[in-house]
Amino acid sequence: MENSGTPIIIGSDHAAFPMKETVKKFLSDAGIEVTDAGTSGLESVDYSDFGIKVAGAVSSGEFERGILICGTGLGMSMVANRFKHVRAALCGDIFSARMSRLHNNANILVMGGRVTGEALAIEIVKTWLETGFEGGRHQARLDKFDMI
Ligand code: RB5
Repeated sequence: MENSGTPIIIGSDHAAFPMKETVKKFLSDAGIEVTDAGTSGLESVDYSDFGIKVAGAVSSGEFERGILICGTGLGMSMVANRFKHVRAALCGDIFSARMSRLHNNANILVMGGRVTGEALAIEIVKTWLETGFEGGRHQARLDKFDMI
């Protein structure tokens, strides 16, 4: 994969644990360094704890890119987008994944493990990792986020 140089930090709750494991395997098989922030099983946990870990690591610059998955992707999006410098995009289709990189320079991909099938999720991840940011007028729009 084109963007295989970027290490990824990934996290999920119990609802998306199976999808996290599938995505993790896909990334490792593609030669992408992946750090797993948990959770580590099907036991019920709070998605916010894992969202905070991954979004915190992206916000601080420790990781350039992250992936977060919960049941719907909604809770993870909400928590991740509270962090400065985080642009988390909930994507359930390939077009949105592509646009989230081209126009929004999304640095966290969020998916819903109970919403999106695993085969589609892998295609979304692939697209998201391979697509670059267009910059220009889109950067000017993102710059306004810092005025909040
Ligand atoms: C867990 O039951 C569920 O609420 C969580 O995975 C997520 O969908 C929250 O937004």
